[in-house]
Amino acid sequence: MPVQASKVNTSKVNIGRIEDFPQQSGKTVEVLKWSIAVFHLSNGSMQAVENKCPHKGGPLAEGIICGDHVYCPLHDWKISTKDGKVQEPDTGCVQTFPVDVEDGYVYLTIE
Ligand code: FES
Repeated sequence: MPVQASKVNTSKVNIGRIEDFPQQSGKTVEVLKWSIAVFHLSNGSMQAVENKCPHKGGPLAEGIICGDHVYCPLHDWKISTKDGKVQEPDTGCVQTFPVDVEDGYVYLTIE
């Protein structure tokens, strides 16, 4: 019996121009069912995570960015914008999303 490839349903969504995302800050983007926090870090890279802290749902896009981490604005949990992991002593994880910049436009990939 042949192996059936699983269906991949991916959307690459244009979310605006790079200048719409000031460095060292986050911005909320609504895509499909997701509210996503998009960060333009001081090193120029862009990262995206679900905009909902795993503690009590704080809006991570409004958090303070330090390097490649964001501090939740509600109770200061520290979360990696790269892999979504909550840093010790707290625990948990948020969904991350690939971000690409092409010809001055920012794209999120939603799977
Ligand atoms: S809701 Fe984010 S640390 Fe409490």
